[in-house]
Amino acid sequence: MSGRYSRVVVDLDAVRHNVRRLIDTSSPARLMAVVKANGYGHGAVRVAEAALEAGAHGLCVALVQEGVELRRAGVEAPILVLSEQPRDQVGDLVAHGLIATAYTVAFIDALADETRRREVVGQEVHLKVDTGMNRVGARPDAIVELGGRVIARSPQLSLGGVFTHLACADDVASPVTADQIRRFDSVVDDLHHAGIDPGWLHIANSAGAVAHPDSRRDMVRVGIAMYGIAPDPSTPAAYAGFRPALGLVSKVSYTKTVNAGEAISYGHRHRFDRTTNVATIPIGYADGVPRRLSSVGGEVLIGGRRRPIVGVITMDQLMVDTGDDRCAIGDEVVLLGRQGDEVVTANEWAMALGTIGYEIVCAMSARLPRDYVGNAQ
Ligand SMILES: Cc1ncc(COP(=O)(O)O)c(C=O)c1O
Repeated sequence: MSGRYSRVVVDLDAVRHNVRRLIDTSSPARLMAVVKANGYGHGAVRVAEAALEAGAHGLCVALVQEGVELRRAGVEAPILVLSEQPRDQVGDLVAHGLIATAYTVAFIDALADETRRREVVGQEVHLKVDTGMNRVGARPDAIVELGGRVIARSPQLSLGGVFTHLACADDVASPVTADQIRRFDSVVDDLHHAGIDPGWLHIANSAGAVAHPDSRRDMVRVGIAMYGIAPDPSTPAAYAGFRPALGLVSKVSYTKTVNAGEAISYGHRHRFDRTTNVATIPIGYADGVPRRLSSVGGEVLIGGRRRPIVGVITMDQLMVDTGDDRCAIGDEVVLLGRQGDEVVTANEWAMALGTIGYEIVCAMSARLPRDYVGNAQ
């Protein structure tokens, strides 16, 4: 027991359900489950294990440390690190058998030097091509040279794949996705003409896998849909068959009656126009509940009903107006998830706050205990 009323509850059955659904949609492409950022706040190791049980081929992470955490937990599946890494991380990347992403000659050489030093052969490298995202990745016209460089450093290195990342896949009407796919295909043609086998080709993120069949290729790298959240909070319909995996729950820690005319929390920004009951919930912005949520109509569920958050959310606590209902200390509070017939989703918060569900779940802080439900298979 963690001794806290507030906790994240992760439904591993939902993760497995979502992964199977994505595999059905994307097959014969293999599925790489993206578990960076502590599995989008859900807990990387447990989500990774559930995804692999459900048929994922491997995992993707953003940082070498994230890959090392999975290896230390006993995960043996392929793990792709999605970007080039600081030089002081290359040793751990090679030592833990992680797959490297490269897009510069300098990084390819650093990898090759490290593998030689460690007498490792066949370190897998995927080349990342920038087809329009303009974040990381080599220009399309640089890929043949980079592919040649990897091959030149054989047997230390082996070219395992070539990939790109979509910038606008969540907008099905955007012409950008087709354009990026065209540029990617042209890079692959260039590699073939140069006699270079590009290995596994991959383009799709969740929105690509779900909505752009032409982006599925040999593998898909899916994150957000595996967690049961639509990439774009304003278009959840295409993701209706996915089940949100993350719940955020707490308990009432204190109750009181406040009189008409009294105000509440920092700055006294909310004043009560009638006498009412208020419940205090021991969770705040230090746990990942956005401070602004109270000013954009944020609600929690108590007794199967929506209750408005009143006053500014503080670091560790927030208050809700329960009207004529008097709560008891210990009553269950659902901030994200279902209670009775009511549901609050991460994308509901995201819509109200003008952000995306990714940011909501990734913000769940380390001090919140994670409970896992859903039977292991
Ligand atoms: C390179 C790359 N591939 C795949 C993903 C997964 O994206 P999504 O969570 O939208 O499926 C991400 C996430 O940001 C990424 O950076």
